[in-house]
Amino acid sequence: MDAMKAQALLASFSIFLLFPNTLTAPAIASCARCDEVAHGFASLNGGTYGGRDGTVVTATTFEQLKEYAGSEEPLIIRVDGALTAEPLGYEVPIKSDKTIIGVGNTGHIVGGGFNINQEKNIIIRNLEISDTYIPEDYNGKTEDWDAIQIDTGSNIWIDHVKLTRMADGLIDSRKDTDYITVSNSLLSDHNKAFGIGWTDNVIAKMTINDNFFNSTNQRNPSADNLLHCHMYNNYHLNLTSYGNYARGQTQLLVENSYFEEVHDPVVAGPDASIRSNLLKFKDCTGETHESVNPDNVFDAREFYEYEVKDPYDLPTTIPPFVGPREDIGV
Ligand SMILES: *[C@@H]1O[C@H](CO)[C@@H](O)[C@H](O)[C@H]1NC(C)=O
Ligand SMILES: *[C@@H]1O[C@H](CO)[C@@H](O)[C@H](O)[C@H]1NC(C)=O
Repeated sequence: MDAMKAQALLASFSIFLLFPNTLTAPAIASCARCDEVAHGFASLNGGTYGGRDGTVVTATTFEQLKEYAGSEEPLIIRVDGALTAEPLGYEVPIKSDKTIIGVGNTGHIVGGGFNINQEKNIIIRNLEISDTYIPEDYNGKTEDWDAIQIDTGSNIWIDHVKLTRMADGLIDSRKDTDYITVSNSLLSDHNKAFGIGWTDNVIAKMTINDNFFNSTNQRNPSADNLLHCHMYNNYHLNLTSYGNYARGQTQLLVENSYFEEVHDPVVAGPDASIRSNLLKFKDCTGETHESVNPDNVFDAREFYEYEVKDPYDLPTTIPPFVGPREDIGV
């Protein structure tokens, strides 16, 4: 063996010692920022990390997405391109320990959505979900076609999504779904945006921060029987029926938010409590309940750290940063 060959052999052998799996492991798709974990209430109760410890796979068809989302193992599922739901309105069931994440700003579910039923540790991130809207049915009475419906789920993080023009709700969080964070998202052009409740129990805890509610009519959110509802850094524009609505026994802490052309920006039902900090209103109408039995309301800093923004900055800083991002999932 000549000296050069011996040297090459030695070099490859030392690489093998350093990275014993590199010769056998299958090629894994890159996935930028796919190991990020939830903040807020979804960071408690063991945390929300989705499929972080599993394989990275890429769905380029709706059939693949259904298969991966229904698998029993942890997976990071990249959604590459616009996938059209079949049949119209189909909500893909997601099993525990999954991250569903769009590739840059291409990931889009058209004409369908997702359903989580008694599953946990799920991240839905960096995706657009749209267009099950039925034009002759503005009130959404004919089909329960949501973008994201969660029944009795826990540890769910919805982040950097754009949800628009659906038949029923954009997000329906029901039946004691707990430890959930919804952040950096755009909820737009819709009637019933974000409903929370469908339960008599008062146990669920939710963080809703850095979102843009744009031209939605009602449920921004409608928060019924949430033990702790923490909203901060949200920008609301052109909400025609009402804005943040604390119903049932909900405790709502609402901080550093901006309301523009909103009817009834912040309101409480007869048994709810509201404490607020630094809310700014421009051209709003109707009622505002900034303080309703405020001593009943929890202190979010006893649960986690968070950073509030100057509400006057929200109309300019929030819109560019909500929804899918070029640098996530690529
Ligand atoms: C906000 O809603 C208006 C009215 O429907 C729409 O024209 C506009 O594109 C929306 N903005 C965003 C950022 O989605
Ligand atoms: C306000 O939102 C409604 C939908 O709720 C929409 O029809 C209307 O065009 C929006 N107005 C503006 C000025 O964007």
